[in-house]
Amino acid sequence: MTAVSPLPYLPAAAATPLGAEVARGLIARPKRLSPWLFYDERGSALFESITNLPEYYLTRIERDIFAEHGDAILAAAGDAGATIIELGAGTASKTDLLLAAAVRRHGPVTYYPMDIAPSALEQAGDRIARELPLVSVRPILRDYTRNLGELPGSRRLVLYIGSSIGNFEPARAAALLRRLRSQLAPGEWLLLGVDHVKDRTTMLRAYNDGAGVTAEFNRNVLARINAELGANFRPRLFRHRALWNDRESRMEMHLESLVAQEISIAALDLTVRFRRGESIHTENSYKFTPDAVKELLARGGYAARHNWTDARGWFGVYLAEAV
Ligand code: AVI
Repeated sequence: MTAVSPLPYLPAAAATPLGAEVARGLIARPKRLSPWLFYDERGSALFESITNLPEYYLTRIERDIFAEHGDAILAAAGDAGATIIELGAGTASKTDLLLAAAVRRHGPVTYYPMDIAPSALEQAGDRIARELPLVSVRPILRDYTRNLGELPGSRRLVLYIGSSIGNFEPARAAALLRRLRSQLAPGEWLLLGVDHVKDRTTMLRAYNDGAGVTAEFNRNVLARINAELGANFRPRLFRHRALWNDRESRMEMHLESLVAQEISIAALDLTVRFRRGESIHTENSYKFTPDAVKELLARGGYAARHNWTDARGWFGVYLAEAV
């Protein structure tokens, strides 16, 4: 049961994106929190650690695909590719391989990494300036999920990699692709990196690693709510759960309350009760068959022209033309 204290007035924090999301999500049944809440400074650092875990194959395989096929990807994009825009670039570590291929093909390249984390953008800019002097980096500090803004340049190749599209419900994923599509001209390209459906043991291990980093990443959302909204969560009283939802074709992450407890969130003037075993649904990571990726791209207004995968077919990189 969820009890909400009566609100004599709407606390100001409830009007911020974080406050509104937490209030909405913890009043809802079942309780849920959006995955974008993971990415405060500590959460971003934990995600970076996840990408280096032996169980988290996604980043490693996508990087291998870029290393092996970077030149072919840029060749397939034709004369687009001297202007590269990346949505949710983070520190852009894998992108270097594509930027190097773009330089081999086009000479000078302009790269626009878009992200909400200024420190990640700064890190990316410094590294690329050092290692790829022919790439001019123009960071865009923006949350592309809320506001794509007006995309710069012409004859563009847009990167949306890392299976980030998998964190959206299918309808929202298609809407996001369509918003992007509305700014692209025919002959411009989207490079989409997505995780494929595979045996469930491999997927379960990727979201439940032996070192417990993913569990920390999941629980960090509670620490963030404590720090930013004055809540009194004790993250250790929540268990990390990762499960495969076959019907929806997605990995899910949950935080399960180990005890019956009552949490107060001062900035929202909100009290939330948990039953023992009740959980907060914190993330979906959709996994796709190649046909499902092509269908999603078609719903977004693109035609998948080329795709690359690894020997086991675990991860796919799709080059899609705006049509
Ligand atoms: C960022 N995103 C694609 C990751 C994923 O696999 O869904 C986030 C993540 N969650 C748990 N581990 C990694």
